Amino acid sequence: MAIYDDEQAVEMRRRDEMPFYEPTRRLLGEIFARIRPPGRIDVMDLGCGSGRYFHLFTDCGLYLAIDPSGPALREALKPAFDGLYGKERVEFLEGDISHPDLDSKRFDLIHCVGVYGQLVVFDRSVVRRACSLLSKKGVAMFLVKGRVGDGGLDWRESQITNKGIPNEALIEELEAEHVDYRVSLLDLPSPNAASGLAPFFAVEFSPKR
Ligand SMILES: C[S@@+](CC[C@H](N)C(=O)[O-])C[C@H]1O[C@@H](n2cnc3c(N)ncnc32)[C@H](O)[C@@H]1O
Repeated sequence: MAIYDDEQAVEMRRRDEMPFYEPTRRLLGEIFARIRPPGRIDVMDLGCGSGRYFHLFTDCGLYLAIDPSGPALREALKPAFDGLYGKERVEFLEGDISHPDLDSKRFDLIHCVGVYGQLVVFDRSVVRRACSLLSKKGVAMFLVKGRVGDGGLDWRESQITNKGIPNEALIEELEAEHVDYRVSLLDLPSPNAASGLAPFFAVEFSPKR
């Protein structure tokens, strides 16, 4: 089930606190520090789940946490409001990137982790929609799951179930939208992968300026 139910949401929140995710947090922190526009920024956390990465942004204006799962958003209330991460302006929206309430909003950073290439297909319509929601200085960073064979990683039979997207197809979707982009392959540990490495692409893009 792509949209997390109660049980999955509770389990996801439990995992949020696992040291296991430290390398991912660190890596994402580095990426965000490099790409975020200067100053106080408005951030969209697309497919925010139970708020695993909220605390990477403690100094933003608006932090919009969006997920189609009501149970996930309920779990995300804890990291948002229990004082752990000191959020000033977290807002929640139940839905996905097509939600009409987003139409009038613009974000300086849109990030999305653990959704595309995993639960949902990454294609040019997502790129287009995300670009339409970016401010003049805005940038998007989607961590997209790749497919077996990409980057020459050695995957076991049991792992060959992810939907994923091959590197070339991903580039094709970005090229079709004529955006500025940068794609890097990240070797991140995955709790669901018996042998460790899962190919994730850090896909940074913004409209051509
Ligand atoms: C693997 S979790 C990742 C959560 C969080 N981003 C993280 O990395 O911890 C996937 C989340 O994507 C949400 N989701 C499912 N379909 C989605 C969609 N079309 N757009 C955005 N989020 C979606 C699920 O409800 C779930 O909360």
